[in-house]
Amino acid sequence: MFPQRSNNYERLEGGMGPNRMGARRFGWKKFAIGAVVIIGLVWVFGPRKEDLVPEKYIPSIIRPGDSEVVTGPPTGPPEPPARPPARPTEDDDDDIVPAPHASRPTDPASDPDPSKTVYCSTPYKPDQPLVQYALMIDAGSTGSRIHIYKFHNCRPSPTFEYEVFKVTKPGLSSYKDSPLEAAESLDVLLDEAVRVVPASLQSCTPVAVKATAGLRLLGVEESAEILEAVRRRLQDYYPFSLQGVDDVVIMDGKDEGVYAWITANYLLNTIRDDTPSGTETYAVLDLGGASTQIVFEPRFDSLKPDSTLEEGEHKYELTFGGKTHVLYQHSFLGYGLMQARLSVHRLVEFMGTMRGTPSGPDVKIGNPCLAKGTSRLVEIDDERHSEKWNVTMVGEDIGSFEACNRVVELVMAKDAICEVKPCSFNGIYQPSLMETFPSGNILLLSYFYDRLQPFLATINPVPPLHVSTFASLAEQVCEGKPSWEKNWGSRELMEELEGRPEWCLDLTFMHALLRLGYELASERQVEIGKQIEGTELGWCLGATLAMVGAEIKCRV
Ligand SMILES: *[C@@H]1O[C@H](CO)[C@@H](O)[C@H](O)[C@H]1NC(C)=O
Repeated sequence: MFPQRSNNYERLEGGMGPNRMGARRFGWKKFAIGAVVIIGLVWVFGPRKEDLVPEKYIPSIIRPGDSEVVTGPPTGPPEPPARPPARPTEDDDDDIVPAPHASRPTDPASDPDPSKTVYCSTPYKPDQPLVQYALMIDAGSTGSRIHIYKFHNCRPSPTFEYEVFKVTKPGLSSYKDSPLEAAESLDVLLDEAVRVVPASLQSCTPVAVKATAGLRLLGVEESAEILEAVRRRLQDYYPFSLQGVDDVVIMDGKDEGVYAWITANYLLNTIRDDTPSGTETYAVLDLGGASTQIVFEPRFDSLKPDSTLEEGEHKYELTFGGKTHVLYQHSFLGYGLMQARLSVHRLVEFMGTMRGTPSGPDVKIGNPCLAKGTSRLVEIDDERHSEKWNVTMVGEDIGSFEACNRVVELVMAKDAICEVKPCSFNGIYQPSLMETFPSGNILLLSYFYDRLQPFLATINPVPPLHVSTFASLAEQVCEGKPSWEKNWGSRELMEELEGRPEWCLDLTFMHALLRLGYELASERQVEIGKQIEGTELGWCLGATLAMVGAEIKCRV
């Protein structure tokens, strides 16, 4: 029911990670602007979308209007109706499109020669290698994952072909007191890279290790020691090339968000040079366990005097494919799905004690965010008194979308003081989506996908998705088993719902986040995604494009 590869995709992080205000900023802007110009060029000259489409992938992005769950290559946004007349002739794609019967490799097994490419036989620039590999290690809190990316140089800039990835657990942060063991834990990933990358290309294959939330939470000294041990191990035991700049680092939460935006918009062809001007980029909304993120490109009406993006942490300027994109981004720490559950449970328990209900594992507390007739043992974590205790939460006959929504609304802190207006929620400045992003596409990732997809898998054709889809599903789910049986016959889905009483809470929270938090209209269309063309949506590809877009140093 899930895309095969999606099963392998386990979040290594709760979202794109917290945006730590004090975190070091390693000159991202300079780096990104330069790199991203080059990334843009990849698109100008890159092969047409379909050249990259692997044939065997099952659906990973579901967009409104899809007549059914896509089982072949997902469809992209409509191709530009006509090419700009000024397009230089050497830009013509046709010279490197493989013969109609030549298969387009999607992994090393389907690649006739991983040291060559089926797209051309000589590189565009004679001094460049025909094929370029690049390694990105995502060092998350629960595990580390390597992405082995293959690019070709048939064009002036590296063009992405396919990726291979492998995960290992636990993450670097679990080796707090042993930097060497931490470094060695990556061996299994790097050994895979040695296996996949042809030996002749290894010394010119750049490698980077980017750590996210988990390592950020360790002390400065501990994490620096681990990173240093990782760097040494790479240097001493592996043939790949460290680039010296931002190669083994803790990544800023902001970079994560913007790289993820680049990945999605790169794969969706919205930031290509030949994208007709006026094409809107996708807003990318991620929901992780610990935090939730939003990145979008607001458009301001230049006729109105005060309508510009305020200066601040949230603002990002990117030049991409010759176009400048001014992005708004924010990461809400504490608004990830797992954190939201804890907040709801805490609030419900608190309200229970206010009514004089004693607390304890044997006491039942009515929780409207659990589906009717379900119950769950919940651990309450009172951070202020650093106490923990168990209570039994029950949905009994009070579980309902509306009642749950009232609790969730309190958790959202919509009424927090807003210093710079307008605010989304929790007092955070954000230009109004309704005004500055009235018709752009919205792509929802991670838990948004995980919680919606099982329902969509039972419906054929998949109906267009709207913000209200979350509400109507929540209504049905919160009503409990009789409603589930009436609405969905699927045994798999039934087992899922029975095994996870919080499904009602999850859907209600997601709806509140979109509707109340970001103030999207109920009828606003949304798309959900996990991967596009077999490539995971997340920061990794965006960060790698930046790396291979720069000049690559080979190892001597
Ligand atoms: C709550 O219950 C779980 C599962 O039985 C247990 O692992 C946990 O230690 C309990 N927590 C407390 C604070 O008693």
